[in-house]
Amino acid sequence: MTDAIVVEGLVKRFGATTALDGVDLTVAEGSVLGLLGPNGAGKTTVVRILTTLLEADAGRVEVVGLDVSREADRVRAAIGLTGQYAAVDEYLTGFENLEMVGRLYRLGRAEARRRAGELLERFDLSGAADRPAKTYSGGMRRRLDIAASLIARPRVLFLDEPTTGLDPRSRLSMWEFIADLADGGTTILLTTQYLEEADRLADRMVVIDRGRVIARGTADELKAQVGGQRLEFTVTDAAVLPGMVERLRPLAVEDPVVDVQARRLSLPVSGGAEVLAEALRRLDGATAEIFDVGLRRPDLDDVFLALTGRVAEEVATEDDPTAEPAITGGAR
Ligand SMILES: Nc1ncnc2c1ncn2[C@@H]1O[C@H](COP(=O)(O)OP(=O)(O)OP(=O)(O)O)[C@@H](O)[C@H]1O
Ligand SMILES: [Mg+2]
Repeated sequence: MTDAIVVEGLVKRFGATTALDGVDLTVAEGSVLGLLGPNGAGKTTVVRILTTLLEADAGRVEVVGLDVSREADRVRAAIGLTGQYAAVDEYLTGFENLEMVGRLYRLGRAEARRRAGELLERFDLSGAADRPAKTYSGGMRRRLDIAASLIARPRVLFLDEPTTGLDPRSRLSMWEFIADLADGGTTILLTTQYLEEADRLADRMVVIDRGRVIARGTADELKAQVGGQRLEFTVTDAAVLPGMVERLRPLAVEDPVVDVQARRLSLPVSGGAEVLAEALRRLDGATAEIFDVGLRRPDLDDVFLALTGRVAEEVATEDDPTAEPAITGGAR
């Protein structure tokens, strides 16, 4: 299989800041790469260099076999980009925005209009097609932005934090759109701060921190490094914990961890929500003391802790609405 994206020894400095310090990665044609990292890791810088918006200081970058600095025009014709911040024209309607982008890509007028209608339909924006984009919600803008990046049917699509700031329902539908594109054969490089998102969409992941790759692999490989998911029980009386451990031990893939002070039992498990159901069945009736229970998946914080021994200090900022703990009952 050929690689649609090849990056070797990529270095980028901004004055005294080394934003990228020798990044290597490849993305096989037709696959999805998740580029993960906390704020300031260098994700957007990678995307900007790969999409010809920024010159690297060192390194080799090829997209669809073309050198991004020497053949920038040809690269641009082959790619689509949805940046971290929506780039729609506020005063144009959704339809006009897409038509304009189509014209910029040198589609004929009729073809640009046809494509605009098609994409509005696909992204559930037909009803808002004739409203100015400034009346759109954040989620609608995001969808319009992605629609715009698809106008010219790019072979390679770059999505920089496609779901940051979206509510859970919009995030789920965005995931479906992206998964559909991937199924259709588009090569995708997406950046994200959420392991769950990369897990859901990406074939492979590269984790960067301070401009360096600190881990790479499939979701399973990364999670194996992190320790996988666990069932967490908090009880009202620590005295019931030993009995629970006995009943639940057969479900554990590693040793259960009991924290008497916190009245908590953490059980490393594999599988989805069904393991939670099975655990409750095994506790059969002895659930009166359970105060809280959840299936906890590793998030990027856990990855960081496991890989670097420190917490990703910049991940959970106050403007990050999704920084809630990842206690979910099988959202996939
Ligand atoms: N134009 C610029 N001038 C100076 N420094 C920059 C510039 N662009 C990025 N940087 C710095 O380079 C580093 C990487 O930034 P980058 O935007 O690539 O991070 P990121 O991983 O996309 O972060 P976020 O999750 O916040 O979007 C940061 O330290 C940032 O401050
Ligand atoms: Mg960024």
